[in-house]
Amino acid sequence: MALHTRTSAFAAALSFLTSAILAPAQASPTPAPVRARHAMVVSIQHDASDAGLAILKQGGNAVDAAVAVGFALAVVFPQAGNIGGGGFMLIRDKHGKSHFLDYREKAPAAATRDMYLDAHGNVAPGRSTIGYLASGVPGTVAGLTYAQQHFGKLTLAQDMAPAIRLAAQGYVLSAEEAHNLQNKNLARFPTSTQIFQRNGDFYKEGDTFKQPLLAATLTRISKDPTDFYKGEIARQIAAFEQKGGGLITTADLAAYQVKERAPIVGNYHGYEIITAPPPSSGGIVLVEILNILSGFNLPALGPDRSAAQVHIITEAFRRAYMDRGDYLGDPDFNTLPLKQMADPAYAAAWRASIDPTKPTPSKNLLRPAGFMPPPPQFPIPHESTETTHFSIVDADGNAVSSTYTLNGLFGSGLTVDSLGFLLNNQMDDFTSKIGVPNMYGLIQGPANAIAPGKRPLSAMTPTIVTRNGKLAFVLGSPGGATIITTVANDIISTIDNGLNIQQVADAPRFHHQYLPDRLDLEKKFPLEPAEALKAMGYSVNRLAVADEKNPGVWGDSELIAVDPKTHELLGGHDSRRSFGKAAGY
Ligand code: DON
Repeated sequence: MALHTRTSAFAAALSFLTSAILAPAQASPTPAPVRARHAMVVSIQHDASDAGLAILKQGGNAVDAAVAVGFALAVVFPQAGNIGGGGFMLIRDKHGKSHFLDYREKAPAAATRDMYLDAHGNVAPGRSTIGYLASGVPGTVAGLTYAQQHFGKLTLAQDMAPAIRLAAQGYVLSAEEAHNLQNKNLARFPTSTQIFQRNGDFYKEGDTFKQPLLAATLTRISKDPTDFYKGEIARQIAAFEQKGGGLITTADLAAYQVKERAPIVGNYHGYEIITAPPPSSGGIVLVEILNILSGFNLPALGPDRSAAQVHIITEAFRRAYMDRGDYLGDPDFNTLPLKQMADPAYAAAWRASIDPTKPTPSKNLLRPAGFMPPPPQFPIPHESTETTHFSIVDADGNAVSSTYTLNGLFGSGLTVDSLGFLLNNQMDDFTSKIGVPNMYGLIQGPANAIAPGKRPLSAMTPTIVTRNGKLAFVLGSPGGATIITTVANDIISTIDNGLNIQQVADAPRFHHQYLPDRLDLEKKFPLEPAEALKAMGYSVNRLAVADEKNPGVWGDSELIAVDPKTHELLGGHDSRRSFGKAAGY
């Protein structure tokens, strides 16, 4: 595939994910975080942040607030907030103990390895992204209710009350939110068109958007969460799937289980990085990146976003993403070389392969010998967004970092008729065909092939950073393949470069994922280092230049830092989005 084709495919994927929800990136000249004494909730939608804050003020802890925000975002941010998708929640309690909840979707029992291939063995366009076949078995309701039952203080009904109210009484749409609802994939399906687009009489700025069906479903869940997996709601979902040719059955729903997994833990310049384990690739790739970079004095090379820093960081990205594609998949179906990937000696060997003056072309990259098992073999052909993150800290110091998703913007586009919620298109995160990029341009290996009951590999990277046993940062972002580099850059910007958490959220992003061999820059990325990187030999893709229709930005960092001196909480809401909020008290 020619470079320009790949470039426009990437731009199209970004556009598909984000174009409808973006305001122009406008970092204020002196971005300052929101400060709060006791507790903080940061999310992409202000009503959802306020829902979390209200629960904290009612005596709920960070997990109660996370449950409230999770259900509220299913109402007020239907692009990605969901009950028809899945995700991850990382909890660090006030005693310093961490818990990681995996409520990622699972492939239905009837899923098969080649289900997205046509009769000629080619990936059938849209089959893994639009409509019935695109959905995995949703995990969000199981995940949020598990979190509430095991770690919350209030009742599920209390935690869900704000979401139910927002669905029943409605919320007021901003111009950007109203515009977002005009999404083309929603227009493909009558129920989605009716609910989100008033059958073509589109919602406008200032309209109150009510979702009575969703309110009724949420009320049923709040009374009996098992209804979603084993009761009448499960039967309604399965009947809907059967009618439309989908695969999800009552047996799939009944078999769904949340998994508590040990988080990945790494170290970076004296900070402890607590992050997402597989089936997310996020945490282990993040740790590998940071291990490689820990041997450099980045500030000595130049300031944040200088060409010299970006070069070294990009070379770490390239190397760690090579391992991502070759080795990672659902840990319940594969033995993954996580110890080797996190080994500082391996990172040192990778570091030694970085040329300080120029990029290593991905096609010439050789994995250091003697550390990793041989990767499963697969031929790479010669030719070669929407999720949401929220961060919460309560007055006792409990922290939650959570990223969950429908995958693409509004998921599969399909709303379950009688229940009023959108289903995910998470099946596209599997390897549809080895060597063929998914919607994020990721080329993935056999470890991530489709199998019944398997979880697709994710990049979601909810992360908590501590120093000397004390909470330092809560962070994460959406953005598909770009999530890991966004989180890595956010960590580097604060720990290495000393940016405040609002500057971190707003800093122009750069991304490299090994293949395609291309350095993506947001449109606000400064021109001078962009030119210097080009001169160094990078194939630079500054998004605004590539395609005027693409949004030119990606990701959405929703961050909290703890001021080490005053112990205040500092909230950083990504200013790329106009309707979010850092809410504290
Ligand atoms: O789990 C993953 O890595 C993807 N499904 C996340 C998708 C995403 O972040 C889209 N957002 N822009």
